[in-house]
Amino acid sequence: MSKILVTGGLGYIGSHTVVELHNQGYEITIVDDLSNTSLDVLKRINKITNSSINYVNLDLKNVEATKIFISENNDIDGVIHFAASKAVGESVDNPLKYYINNISSLTNLLNELKDLNKKINFIFSSSATVYGKPINVPITELEPIKNAESPYGNTKQIGEEIIRDLVNSNSNFKAISLRYFNPIGAHLSAMIGELPIGVPQNLVPYITQTAIGIRKELTVFGNDYLTIDGSCLRDYIHVVDLAKAHIKSLDKLISNDDKNYYDTFNIGTGKGTSVLELIKSFENVTGNKLNFKIGDRRKGDVAECFADVSKANKFLNWNSEFSVEDSLLSSWNWEKNINNEKL
Ligand code: WQD
Repeated sequence: MSKILVTGGLGYIGSHTVVELHNQGYEITIVDDLSNTSLDVLKRINKITNSSINYVNLDLKNVEATKIFISENNDIDGVIHFAASKAVGESVDNPLKYYINNISSLTNLLNELKDLNKKINFIFSSSATVYGKPINVPITELEPIKNAESPYGNTKQIGEEIIRDLVNSNSNFKAISLRYFNPIGAHLSAMIGELPIGVPQNLVPYITQTAIGIRKELTVFGNDYLTIDGSCLRDYIHVVDLAKAHIKSLDKLISNDDKNYYDTFNIGTGKGTSVLELIKSFENVTGNKLNFKIGDRRKGDVAECFADVSKANKFLNWNSEFSVEDSLLSSWNWEKNINNEKL
């Protein structure tokens, strides 16, 4: 049975991917430094999967600790690398934190994996943010990579280049970078989901926190864009669909005998939804009237960003299955569950 290392496996997308890996019968080891999550997520994963997933508290910035961990886990067949800081705004205020955390964690990990001198299938958590302001939408993988809009986005661009260059130089490595569009939603059990710390920067957790009364009202950041209703379009993909794309990518790498195989795939629904359309969908599926107002544009936002997913459909044999409405309802169920638990 293939042994898979999941770094950042207690995070939002990592935890959902661990559940899907378990469902497919993979042997899993999670490493996470708990800087942006808690051990409670591990308990929830174990409850969902009715198992006890291996977990090690590891800071991949720590060279010595990473060396020891990999030497003690030298039978790894695949790695899914989520561990990274991911708040765009924070990265602008504190770029060094992002370069140190996101880049050195990756290079330390790769450097130790390289020394195992064995075949490694590596999946990198990348982002549509590498495209910056797109020239064409829907966005294909041929869309030119622009100068990053944020240090966070730059760490994703640099990460992809590091992995590409390593694969080209080392026939033991095969890799896929998955460029996520906008992950939303939660596991159908409502036991794991997005856990924003502090005031949510992303739209959907802000919507659900407004609906449940934690936030007074949502501000829509601009309705004067050249779009269907003036608000920005994004590609909102259910986190479980996104998790399943990692399984398909792993299958692809394990079954692929091409030496030095490296490729990138957009992971989205292929459909653009505006902020105002998303609010309307949320109100429809939950029966909750949302309290919102129109405010100024947010710096750095692009009018439209949604994926052409035909490459992933064809070469990963993967397609999204959940609708935006399904995703919003799962987010709402998760929000209600975590608030009920607090009571
Ligand atoms: C979506 C839309 C906002 C909040 C970011 C990162 C990206 C990825 C996904 C990590 C935009 C509008 C938002 C609010 C609003 N993260 N909005 N009011 O900016 O598309 O992508 O998250 O990989 O890298 O950049 O997502 O959810 O922040 O915003 O009107 O309170 O919702 O203007 O149009 P974004 P988002």
